Amino acid sequence: GGAKGGRTRPRGARTIARALGVGARESALSRHPEFASLRGMASDLVEAAARIRALAAPVPQVGVVLGSGLGAFGDSLTGLVKLPYSEIPHMPESSVVGHAGNLCLGTVGEARVACLQGRVHVYEGHALERVTFGVRLLAELGCRAVLLTNAAGGIKAGFSPGDLMLIVDHLNLMGDNPLVGPNEAGAGPRFPDMTRTYDLELAEAARAAARELRVKLQEGVYAGLLGPSYETPAEIRMLRTLGADAVGMSTVPEVLVLRHRGVRVGAMSCITNLGAGLSDALLDHSEVEETAKKTRTTFTALLGKWVEAAAHIASAEQK
Ligand code: HPA
Repeated sequence: GGAKGGRTRPRGARTIARALGVGARESALSRHPEFASLRGMASDLVEAAARIRALAAPVPQVGVVLGSGLGAFGDSLTGLVKLPYSEIPHMPESSVVGHAGNLCLGTVGEARVACLQGRVHVYEGHALERVTFGVRLLAELGCRAVLLTNAAGGIKAGFSPGDLMLIVDHLNLMGDNPLVGPNEAGAGPRFPDMTRTYDLELAEAARAAARELRVKLQEGVYAGLLGPSYETPAEIRMLRTLGADAVGMSTVPEVLVLRHRGVRVGAMSCITNLGAGLSDALLDHSEVEETAKKTRTTFTALLGKWVEAAAHIASAEQK
């Protein structure tokens, strides 16, 4: 494979890269020296987890991934212990404005939380294996539920910038999958079921939290695209026809890896703008960040309640 739409990383690249002992993308290799070894993911995770356990912070039950402009929740944790990604062995760092790059450990009420304040994206040139390192680490640390957040463009009629949308399903339109390659021994099945990707109990808990706080919570299907260019108006119309309610450039790879491992997943988008062509506005990352930041108070409160409920759900037996 490999000729697909200008992608430089061919299908099965991980296998080839292993054989060659090098990273799969030359450009990414030069920009990210840690790319040099795609081997030893398991031992990398063990090393990273050991560094975090050495902090003697409470063992997390729930993981949270904070997207563009949504990092404030991490700083709201009680007993906050903050570790920059640069101090976590093998942890990739984001170059995107609005993505801080800290692991935040602490509690919300009784819930013990590990928060990724900032994520890396495929469009930054990271292999999917690296993009998903953070969530693998959350699972390694013991999180049995992970709540993911992102900034997204609204597609569904009636959505407005500033709306929050519970993700109930997704479209993987990235043209790749982080589970491509040899099946990770012991992690999960070769062909993971995706019928109930977004946990029904976590979704119900999000609705309950929104009701309690009187926050309007939209629901919909998230389409994950590669980026980094925003969509054309024609692409937005295509996505609407395909059944997408919101569009973004993240989350889907992380969700696939977590479900493969049997971790419960909840996800929420902050609708920061309308999809291209749905309003007169041109799209701009600084506006995406601005709108996300405006939802900070509401978003942090909602996420707090959701995390508390998720801790209860996570400690129950996985169905
Ligand atoms: N498209 C893709 N990703 C995004 C958007 C968008 O309109 N807004 C925020 N992230």
